Amino acid sequence: MNFEKKIVVTGGAGFIGSHVVRRFVTSYPDYQVINLDALTYAGNLENLKDVEQGANYTFVKADITDWDAVRNVFETYRPDAVIHLAAESHVDRSIANPTDFVLTNVLGTVNLLNAFKTIWKDDLAAHRFYHVSTDEVYGALGASGMFTETTPYDPHSPYSASKASSDHFVRAYADTYGMNTVISNCSNNYGSHHFPEKLIPLAIHNIKNNKPIPVYGKGENIRDWLWVEDHARAIDLIFHQAKAGQTYNIGGHNEWKNIDLIRLLCSIMDRKLGRPAGTSEQLITFVKDRAGHDWRYAIDASKLKAELGWVPSVTFEEGLEQTVDWYLQHEDWLHNVTSGHYQDYYANQYQNR
Ligand code: NAD
Ligand code: DAU
Repeated sequence: MNFEKKIVVTGGAGFIGSHVVRRFVTSYPDYQVINLDALTYAGNLENLKDVEQGANYTFVKADITDWDAVRNVFETYRPDAVIHLAAESHVDRSIANPTDFVLTNVLGTVNLLNAFKTIWKDDLAAHRFYHVSTDEVYGALGASGMFTETTPYDPHSPYSASKASSDHFVRAYADTYGMNTVISNCSNNYGSHHFPEKLIPLAIHNIKNNKPIPVYGKGENIRDWLWVEDHARAIDLIFHQAKAGQTYNIGGHNEWKNIDLIRLLCSIMDRKLGRPAGTSEQLITFVKDRAGHDWRYAIDASKLKAELGWVPSVTFEEGLEQTVDWYLQHEDWLHNVTSGHYQDYYANQYQNR
């Protein structure tokens, strides 16, 4: 079959990547979507069961830290564009093992840039490399202000330092080699298929199983939450419409203190599980704070709104309800991802807090 465009999406078996792959496979039948993923603990092909039979979908298992493997995929498929999401993404894991984050997030990104540069060396400007990044590169905010696209980088965790480094490499390849790059920096996502090491799915899993909900410190830290499908829609718009070299911040204008978010989640779960109001809140357990815990994130997404017309499509309350419903309707998914190595991770991460 002849496709209009071939796109490599890296990390397509993960949380956000699976939503991006689903969106592109279903919205663009004329594109071949090549999901390049190493299937680490966070990658799960079950996330893509509904689109895996698509004639325009291809899965390739490859590790972006492995130069030969990356070069081989790029020489075989000669993709017209890349949307790069593959990463080690969990801050707590980066505190425990920073080196994995340097390898995947920095070296892996440079391998992809090099492979893309190699196949399109005479025509780089016509081929887009889209790098998906995070608001954590900007550091932490005090009580006021928001991150804009010009906020200086000030990463604090090994995770955010590795993402900041990868952003710098992407910009360096645009400046040095004329590569057609775009970067987006997004705030905290939530939604279906989110691995239960992150706050919201971990809390849903624990509430369901009557286990303590670990809240770091006093639960005063603030995050700006965005529904994952709104992030995927923003990526679609930016991929197709942004000018080369642009950066866009993506966020929901939706700041929540962790403890308030957990209380809201508890009340939704009580209602859905038929428990008396207030039951799940009793599971809240304050534990030792995260090292170097960024206090507040908040995104100013006005550039994306003004230039590309993007605004979030759901309120947090609607999105959270839908998310809880998804987890309650997909007990098998939750069971599969929380058996095996998850148990060891959980014990190591939380036993001494
Ligand atoms: P995730 O951890 O759920 O998924 C990561 C995916 O990358 C997995 O499928 C994994 O198998 C794959 N991967 C990891 N290492 C790899 C390697 N060496 N080679 C190939 N594949 C590898 O992550 P996510 O939360 O979906 O985040 C996706 C991207 O979005 C990341 O770049 C992250 O920094 C960024 N981001 C995430 C959020 C968020 O709230 N989750 C917000 C802003 C930006
Ligand atoms: O801002 C974007 C970033 O959001 C992404 O780049 C990261 O990939 C993603 O993991 C996320 O990072 P956070 O560290 O903000 O997400 P996490 O879900 O780990 O934590 C959210 C908040 O909840 C944070 O303040 C720490 C706190 N927390 C987290 C866990 C796992 C708890 O209180 N208890 C927990 O058990």
